[in-house]
Amino acid sequence: MKFIETSAELGSTRGGAVVPTMGALHEGHASLIRAGAASGRPVLVTIFVNPTQFGPNEDYARYPRTLEADLKIAESAGAAAVFVPSIEAIYPNGIETAAAQAARFPLPPIATTPRLEDAIRPTHFGGVCQVVSRLFDLCEPSIAFFGEKDFQQLQVITQMVEQDSARWKSLKIIPCPTVREPDGLAMSSRNRYLDAAQRSSALGIWQALQSAMNCSTAAEGETLMRQILDQHGLETQYAVIRSPKTLGKLEPDGKSARALIAVKLGSIRLIDNAEIGV
Ligand code: PAF
Repeated sequence: MKFIETSAELGSTRGGAVVPTMGALHEGHASLIRAGAASGRPVLVTIFVNPTQFGPNEDYARYPRTLEADLKIAESAGAAAVFVPSIEAIYPNGIETAAAQAARFPLPPIATTPRLEDAIRPTHFGGVCQVVSRLFDLCEPSIAFFGEKDFQQLQVITQMVEQDSARWKSLKIIPCPTVREPDGLAMSSRNRYLDAAQRSSALGIWQALQSAMNCSTAAEGETLMRQILDQHGLETQYAVIRSPKTLGKLEPDGKSARALIAVKLGSIRLIDNAEIGV
């Protein structure tokens, strides 16, 4: 597996599959890399903890940085190359300019209208779209893999690429299912912040999503999810059932729905979601 630090070395990896990450790789990332490899294209994994997508009181400084372990996971999942750029390579005009540009990034509607992640992390999608578009421009992939665990992010990136189809002509965004621990907790780089008691409380998230799957109305599902999250001592930021396409209110004739949850356990924030029947 090739280790690349500068865009000048990207040459032969262009036109392949890309899996953008912030490192701290786990089985969820490995599944994206495997899906990329199964596409028959060489897979480039990018590892960059992007400062512009973190709010001022968020976990940028303590975000896990585990490069050595990441390289092993990427290689055994079938990556052909790993791109680990410096901050200067991504933001040559400096981080302050980059932060100001992220705040003005022209976002697709799904990054601002659902009042989900966009409401709680108002600067987040500006930074995500900024870094992902920069990575796409540098790496020039033909296909890019993202997990459904960050469901709104996946839709935001998909819409961003659709909106600027002249820029990313034939780029395809491929969604991949969330990978869960045997007990149902969605895999996340932030799970490693959890202590034993928090890890056990966090199981309430999957239980709440499962309970929503058996409800006959969205209102009933939302109430039940909140009750279960409360019972597990989780602070609910949102627990909603929405249209999977718009992330707005369910369309009456829609065939599927998405339950989405964000909770806090002390200073740790976890999100998860699941497809549910209507
Ligand atoms: O999902 C992530 O890890 C990040 O938001 C991404 C897409 C790599 C952009 O920094």
